[in-house]
Amino acid sequence: MVETSAAHRWVVAIDGPAAAGKSTVAQLLADRLGALLFDTGSLYRALALAVLRAEIDPADECRLAELAAELDIAVVPPTVRDGRLATVHLDGEDVTWEIRAPAVDAVVSPVSAHPAVRAALLPHQRRIASGLPVVIVGRDIGSVVVPDAGVKIFLEASPEERARRRFAELRERGVEVDFDAVLADLRRRDAIDTGRAASPLRAAADALVLNTDRLTVPEVVDRIEERARAIWTPTEAVVRGETQ
Ligand code: DC
Repeated sequence: MVETSAAHRWVVAIDGPAAAGKSTVAQLLADRLGALLFDTGSLYRALALAVLRAEIDPADECRLAELAAELDIAVVPPTVRDGRLATVHLDGEDVTWEIRAPAVDAVVSPVSAHPAVRAALLPHQRRIASGLPVVIVGRDIGSVVVPDAGVKIFLEASPEERARRRFAELRERGVEVDFDAVLADLRRRDAIDTGRAASPLRAAADALVLNTDRLTVPEVVDRIEERARAIWTPTEAVVRGETQ
């Protein structure tokens, strides 16, 4: 067994750019490990939706941070069997699919780039990391939110491969999109996510970087599972799950 002194040894942090396959990998991994799944992008997306609805300027950091502090955003296990990985409530309303719309894609990166917004959403993310075994997905989980996570993974893939995946996913949901527009949107979001001053998208120094261009989803999950099991022995995970 690999020894770790991490206070958050029960956390698997999965970071990476948009459409690198993080959510798919994380769901399968969480199932195999009997862990919770928490996609932190949902928080930023729910806030972006609220910003659109309230017609607030996405550049208005002050108003955005106030809104982030006022809103009640809850990410809970799926409440409807329609392919969702989690249910997202915004002030009690189920917005699970609405936060995945292209209109939200268009504003979520600038909204999430503000330091005050990130600070407002940080405690929510850290609360979830403080309990049972959990797989947390985001951009800065291993570098900022839970820097002492037991396992840190950074998933990457080429922009073209990511655009192909995002395009297929949107088409499957019946959303009419153009491939070049999807690719351009991903490149735009990459530039904002990696270029922002506040916790930019980057691999933590001690993260395992996996390029998923030529790896299947099960292959990626196998590699992460192996790491997690080396740290959380199954018995310990079960005991901890039953006693918390
Ligand atoms: O993973 P996603 O596409 O649902 O994330 C939506 C946006 O939220 C993404 O453009 C960057 C931002 N995000 C972030 O800044 N930090 C996180 N931990 C998660 C998401």
